[in-house]
Amino acid sequence: MPGVGPPTARIMIVGEAPGQNEDQQGEPFVGAAGKLLDQLLRGIGLSRGDVFITNILKCRPPGNRDPQPAEAEACSPYLEQQLRLIHPEVVMVLGRHALARLLPGYDSISRLHGKVVVKDEVSYIPIYHPAAALYNSFLMGPLEQDFKAVKAHLDRVEARRQALVGAAVPVARPEEQLTLFG
Ligand code: URA
Repeated sequence: MPGVGPPTARIMIVGEAPGQNEDQQGEPFVGAAGKLLDQLLRGIGLSRGDVFITNILKCRPPGNRDPQPAEAEACSPYLEQQLRLIHPEVVMVLGRHALARLLPGYDSISRLHGKVVVKDEVSYIPIYHPAAALYNSFLMGPLEQDFKAVKAHLDRVEARRQALVGAAVPVARPEEQLTLFG
């Protein structure tokens, strides 16, 4: 299952791997973790229509086990191509497996979550995986904070964009140019 969302999305969400529900429905994050993801997105003013959602693995690992490095390696050309084609401004990196793949050699999820890492002009924001917060309720508060960090970053990007638009030098319209030059 490749992923879902508009090819023009400025935000990309990368999870771990499809689960049983996702495998059956052919769409990422449609189970309990997906419901929580939708709710958290809504909380920061976003919906599925605003984001492209995909996973490190494009197929469900048997028995829902953790992805193996060789599987992540085998799927990585698809993810790299998706990143190239969609060219998001912000990538929300869900959980430790996505973190290990997208930001290899960086800190652990427990230290890096909610922080912005800029790599190849893309802002990567590691956040706890919603399934982890469903399993361990102590992570729910930090997960909500992570989404607030994403919102704060998006607001900063938008403010910068607006400042650039405001600072753009006005260009004379053709009729004004005519009066200027004769
Ligand atoms: N968890 C994931 O990481 N991806 C999905 O698509 C569903 C659950």
